Amino acid sequence: MIQAVDTSVEFAGIPLRNPVLTASGTFGYGTEFAPFLDLRRIGGFVGKSLTLEPRFGNPPPRIAETPSGMLNAISIENIGVDAFLNEALPALPDGVVVIASCFGTDPEDYARLAQRLSDSPRVAGVEINASCPHVKSGGIEFGQDPKLLGELVGRVRERVSGPLIVKLSPNVTRIAPMAEACQEAGADGVTLINTIQSMEVDVETRRPVLSNVLGGLSGPAIRPIALRMVWQASRAVDLPICGVGGITSAEDAIKFLLCGATAVQVGTTNYINPMAAGEIADGILQYAERHGVSRVTDLIGALEVNSPSAS
Ligand SMILES: Cc1cc2nc3c(=O)[nH]c(=O)nc-3n(C[C@H](O)[C@H](O)[C@H](O)COP(=O)(O)O)c2cc1C
Repeated sequence: MIQAVDTSVEFAGIPLRNPVLTASGTFGYGTEFAPFLDLRRIGGFVGKSLTLEPRFGNPPPRIAETPSGMLNAISIENIGVDAFLNEALPALPDGVVVIASCFGTDPEDYARLAQRLSDSPRVAGVEINASCPHVKSGGIEFGQDPKLLGELVGRVRERVSGPLIVKLSPNVTRIAPMAEACQEAGADGVTLINTIQSMEVDVETRRPVLSNVLGGLSGPAIRPIALRMVWQASRAVDLPICGVGGITSAEDAIKFLLCGATAVQVGTTNYINPMAAGEIADGILQYAERHGVSRVTDLIGALEVNSPSAS
């Protein structure tokens, strides 16, 4: 007799029915995907990063396709916290786990925003975006300096008693000190990675492809880098980790769990297949059944490494 698999995990104090979330900026505010996917089938979703006021992004062209990847310089275009709380959230069915992402230009901005979001009973947790690679002010400044990042997280922590997650930038030489700074400042979890700073050129026009010149690379091209960083971060901190970067299948997601992630986020793949996150959740269950794994949590950090000192 096949035993039922327990797919539930707890990430940063948030109970999830399965470890699959969708990544900020790739899943709108949830309702856009409702015709394709019952959001209660996945662990939850992370909304587009919000700011205190609505914000327009960079002018087009601001996305481009690259080999196995996507370049974007959208730059935190969003409806603002009021419209999110008053319009987007109430439009979601009950039972959907919502993690709200916040972005600011200084720690006070982040703290005010995070407090407003976490005060909402519909928000299960707050993810601080300290890692947007193509916004001129904010985000990346914090995401590349462990001291500044620790100060930012500490400031937000003072105002947020609920689950607090920090999204880390891959645009650093060493990821471990960034994760350690979050742990010391009282974060409940870290998400990694955001997009990798990149650019592309059109040789006919001799111009950059993006109006912003620089953008962030996402999609399958970045998955091995994300995996490496998740593995390194998981060895540096006790915090639960949410792995993100280039996940297109259940197999990809399982790689992140094995490397130490408690949960995963599906990003760019949503543009290709809006049902991907649901299919990935189903695929993890099937893998567990096939391998006689009774709890998905048994996969977390179960990577077998011959040379554990490699890091
Ligand atoms: C078009 C686009 C917009 C994004 N916007 C945000 C954002 O607002 N906040 C954020 O934290 N990450 C944002 N990201 C980064 C994703 O959440 C994710 O970290 C990254 O794309 C890597 O995952 P993927 O390869 O599965 O897409 C965005 C990514 C894309 C492609």
